Amino acid sequence: MSHGRFDNPVVAALAGIKDFFSKQELAERLTGTDRFDGKTCIITGANSGLGFGIAVEMARRGAHVIMAGRSRIPEAGEEVKKLSGSDHVEMRYVDLSRINTIYDFVEGLKRDKIKPDVTILNAGVALPGARKTESGIEEMFLVNYLSNVILTQLMINRGVIPAKYNGSSFRPRIVFISSDSHQGSSAIDYDEFGVYEQYGVSKGISNYSYFKLVLNTYAVELSRRINKDKVNVGVNVICPGPVHTEIIKNAPRLLYLTLKSIFRIIFRSPAKAALPVVYMSVSPDYEGKTEEYLHMFRHKKMDPKCYDREEGKKLWDESFKLWKSVDPKAKMIG
Ligand SMILES: NC(=O)c1ccc[n+]([C@@H]2O[C@H](COP(=O)([O-])OP(=O)(O)OC[C@H]3O[C@@H](n4cnc5c(N)ncnc54)[C@H](OP(=O)(O)O)[C@@H]3O)[C@@H](O)[C@H]2O)c1
Repeated sequence: MSHGRFDNPVVAALAGIKDFFSKQELAERLTGTDRFDGKTCIITGANSGLGFGIAVEMARRGAHVIMAGRSRIPEAGEEVKKLSGSDHVEMRYVDLSRINTIYDFVEGLKRDKIKPDVTILNAGVALPGARKTESGIEEMFLVNYLSNVILTQLMINRGVIPAKYNGSSFRPRIVFISSDSHQGSSAIDYDEFGVYEQYGVSKGISNYSYFKLVLNTYAVELSRRINKDKVNVGVNVICPGPVHTEIIKNAPRLLYLTLKSIFRIIFRSPAKAALPVVYMSVSPDYEGKTEEYLHMFRHKKMDPKCYDREEGKKLWDESFKLWKSVDPKAKMIG
C-alpha cells in the first residue's frame, strides 16, 4: 500500500502542530482592502464552527453571504448579521447526507438567479462509527466527499457556477476545506471505494484523513476538467489548521471531554482560522490561480498522490459510477 509524505495520520497531525507554531508567511497579505463588495459567497456548514467564522468575516467585508446548512436556521444567520453588522446574510437549507436536498438547494439558487463568486465547501463530520444514510452510502464518506462532488457538478451543470471565463476581473472561485492530515493517508482503494463498512474510533480518524485525500484529488481533477486551455474557475484547497469547534461532537463522551480541553488550550478560534480562508477567497493573489494549497497562511503542496493524473481520472470515473448507482440523474460535466 502506498503512503503519503507521512506514515500515518498521527505523524501528519504532529507535523501539523509544528506548522501551527511556524511563521505564517502570508498572514500580512490579507488587509482591510480585501473586500467582497458586490460579491456573493456560499458557505456550506456555515451554521457553526469554522463555516460560521467565515460567514461573519465575509459579511463584515461586504459580501452577500449565503449560509447553507441543515440546522440553526434562522438563528445562526441572525447571529452572523449581528456580529458582522451586515444585513446581506441569508440561510438556505441543505442536508449533505440527503442527495435530493442538494438538488433542491441548487434548483433554488438557479431559480433565484444566484451566481456565487465564491463557493466554500466547508461542511464536514468526524464520526466514531459508520452510519448508513438513506442512499445506503456511509455518512462520513457522503458528507465529506461525495456530496461535494454532487454539489459542484450540479452547480456547474446548471450554470450556477459559470464555467467559462467572461473576461471579468474576478473569476469564480471554489475553495475546498480540507485537512493537512490527508498527507498521512494511503492511496485510494478502488476495490473498497464507497463500499459501506463498519468502523470504530481509530479507523474513523484515519477515514476522516483519507476522505480529505480523496477530496483533494477530486479538487485537482475538477480544476483540470474546467480549466483546459485557460483558468475559468479557480479551484483551490485549504487546511485551516487546528480550530476550536464542535467537529468532535460525535466522539465518545470521555474522548470528547479530553479532546475538548486540548482544543480549548491550543486550537485557534473559528474567527481567527477563517482569515486564511477569506484570503484565499478574495485576495488578488489568487486571481486566475488554481490547484493551489494553503495550510493556514502558508503555501504548501498537497500529498503528491493528489496531483497524479491517472489517479484523478480514475477517481472521476469511480465517483460518477458510485453517484449513478444511487441516483439515475447523475451527470458529470464535460
Ligand atoms: N476543527 C478542526 O480542527 C479542523 C481542522 C482541519 C479541517 N477542518 C475542517 O473544517 C470544516 C468545518 O469543520 P468544523 O471544525 O467547523 O466542525 P463543526 O463545528 O462540527 O462544523 C461542521 C459543519 O458541517 C455541518 N454539517 C455536518 N453534516 C452536515 C450535513 N449532513 N449537511 C449539512 N451540513 C452538515 C455542520 O452542521 P450541523 O451543525 O447541522 O451538524 C456544521 O455546520 C470541516 O470540513 C473539517 O473537516 C476542521
